[in-house]
Amino acid sequence: MNSCKIAVVGATGAVGQVFLDIADQRHFPIDEIRLCASERSVGKKIEFRSQEIEVELCTPAVLDEVDFAFISASGDVSREVAPLAANRGTVAIDDSSAFRMDADVPLVVPEVNAKDLNDHKGIVSIPNCSTTPLVMVLNPLMKKSSVNRVVVDTFQSVTGTGAAALAEMEHQSEAILNTRPVTSNEYPHQIAFNVMPHIEPFQKNGYTREEMKMLYETQKILHNSNILVSATCVRVPVAVSHSEAIHIEFEDMISPNEVREILENEPGIKIVDDPFSDVYPMPIDAAGMDDVLVGRIRKDISHPNGIAMWVVCDNLRKGAALNAIQIAEEMMKRDIVAEKNWRK
Ligand SMILES: NC(=O)c1ccc[n+]([C@@H]2O[C@H](COP(=O)([O-])OP(=O)(O)OC[C@H]3O[C@@H](n4cnc5c(N)ncnc54)[C@H](OP(=O)(O)O)[C@@H]3O)[C@@H](O)[C@H]2O)c1
Repeated sequence: MNSCKIAVVGATGAVGQVFLDIADQRHFPIDEIRLCASERSVGKKIEFRSQEIEVELCTPAVLDEVDFAFISASGDVSREVAPLAANRGTVAIDDSSAFRMDADVPLVVPEVNAKDLNDHKGIVSIPNCSTTPLVMVLNPLMKKSSVNRVVVDTFQSVTGTGAAALAEMEHQSEAILNTRPVTSNEYPHQIAFNVMPHIEPFQKNGYTREEMKMLYETQKILHNSNILVSATCVRVPVAVSHSEAIHIEFEDMISPNEVREILENEPGIKIVDDPFSDVYPMPIDAAGMDDVLVGRIRKDISHPNGIAMWVVCDNLRKGAALNAIQIAEEMMKRDIVAEKNWRK
């Protein structure tokens, strides 16, 4: 398949807007594009490749016309639209968590488990924007030694919540700097000039749903139910890019230099690691970049087989829109898009 027709569901949102930029930058071969959002945005015009395209509702008629529906709206919208698409022979590539753990739905980071796409049944999920950079570093290292345990603390930007959260952080910052009172709608507390160890609802075990996703999604993508992940997910007042302090406990000893050598040869990873010259990954550098940035690679002094590192990734690009486009590119290359290939 050399080119395709697509619908972008959530085209006015934080991920949707970045999706359109990336599709253009990568020359993603689109014959026809439909832009969908909620009723609030119907009729609004969005420019794509020098064309003004009118936003519309995502109807069955739209889904009938396209090869791919890229869904970046909400779990509820995905639960409605993705099966509707798949039943019409349209492949849904879904950014939400709605189908990630379904046995019939591949959860894919192309650099890690592209082969899982071969078994798709019309819906493909992309992982949580914190899981993606984690599995990208774990996967190549696990070829050297198996991993027993990972402790990861995340520092997640407000665009991880969506466009409205970024606007809220901007309004709060302005209010605080002008000594005006602050209001919070997107989060339970003020996010400007604050950090919040709370992303998604708390579970009975004391972890949040976001933290448990990092365990379950990692195990699914790596096809390894033995790997244990303990996460603490923290929202920070950063616009774009999630950072992660990752501590990996390997089965065998592995040196920081070996880790560096393995990761610098991996597609989609860039080593940024010269701490004595103040060089390490930072969100302001990762924002707008496709690569996952890795630095502060060092021996974890608390465990003989431990490695610690600091990883930063643009949550809207590799954490969402870029990963979705790469999945479509891979499916087109493998010629597994057409309905006859997956609906037997
Ligand atoms: N942000 C990230 O870093 C990230 C990373 C990975 C996955 N995701 C997932 O991607 C999805 C979108 O996230 P976001 O950050 O882009 O959110 P967002 O900025 O809040 O955008 C939401 C989008 O969904 C649209 N929408 C709302 N109701 C709709 C409906 N009934 N039908 C069609 N479209 C509808 C909105 O349209 P209107 O403008 O008309 O309201 C808007 O375009 C979420 O499922 C999120 O979990 C996000």
